[in-house]
Amino acid sequence: MADANAGTETATAAGPAEEELAGAGLRLEVDGAVATVTLNRPERRNAMTFATWRGLAAIGRSLPEGVRVVVLRGAGPSFSAGIDLSMFSGGGEGFADGSDAAATDRFIAELQEGYTWLRRPDIVTVAAVHGHVIGGGFQLALACDIRVAADDVKFCMKEPALGLVPDLTGTKPLVEIVGIGRALELCLTARTVQAEEAARLGLAEIVVPRDGLDAAVGGLVESLLAVNPGAAVATKRLLWEAAENTLEQQCAAERREQIGRLRELFGK
Ligand code: ACO
Repeated sequence: MADANAGTETATAAGPAEEELAGAGLRLEVDGAVATVTLNRPERRNAMTFATWRGLAAIGRSLPEGVRVVVLRGAGPSFSAGIDLSMFSGGGEGFADGSDAAATDRFIAELQEGYTWLRRPDIVTVAAVHGHVIGGGFQLALACDIRVAADDVKFCMKEPALGLVPDLTGTKPLVEIVGIGRALELCLTARTVQAEEAARLGLAEIVVPRDGLDAAVGGLVESLLAVNPGAAVATKRLLWEAAENTLEQQCAAERREQIGRLRELFGK
């Protein structure tokens, strides 16, 4: 991770073309078991368009099989300033204004696919965030399993201040992480949460100085890859189920996953 470009290759033939991703403000580098997705419109503070979200979904659909860890990062001074505000004024290609509820529902569902794959159990997803992490960018970080933040991070859920709701899958993880009261306070005031508070609220698992972000993420990735792959997949599946399950269901899920592990390890 220290040198994100060392020994890397671009997306597989089945995945989106490099130029297509570049047009969507994205860059994908796959280095063995690690895929790094960079939000790459620094001159626009990595503001995201519909193409960005479709590009993220395409990356999720076409990840090479051996990828175990996906890192999301932002180029330039910020992780992401959220939706590209010109999408509102210019309409944006394929913009759905809500007049056709079914079409708008499908439209948003398609964009949400850019986020939902990050919960897949076969990969661990890490958001490496710095600078502004706003709206759709904040939701992207929330869609990841683990957030590593630089000490200049500024999280803000801006949507309600613009008359909208956060609709890119972020409301559930936000409430799960900070609780309903804090989630309401953060969303309805659209205030900015800085690094120290983010760590306290659990919005960032790790906070490091800005110039140590790449190294911290590299170290985390190394640790994640050191774990048995099957155990990592089964444990992620188990942990994400925990909040929804009763204790009884979760105990049963633990037994089921452990039987799979024991079979793999001891070969019956
Ligand atoms: N959409 C489109 N362009 C943007 C966006 C955006 N969300 N954010 C920044 N830019 C552009 C700016 O217009 C500016 O362009 P210019 O150089 O042509 O003037 C350039 O990126 C740099 O932005 P600055 O404002 O100069 O950078 P600064 O570091 O001072 O501020 C900040 C960054 C705080 C992120 C500010 O740009 C901002 O508030 N952006 C809007 C954030 C926003 O409201 N996002 C929507 C959230 S809701 C959602 O995501 C659904």
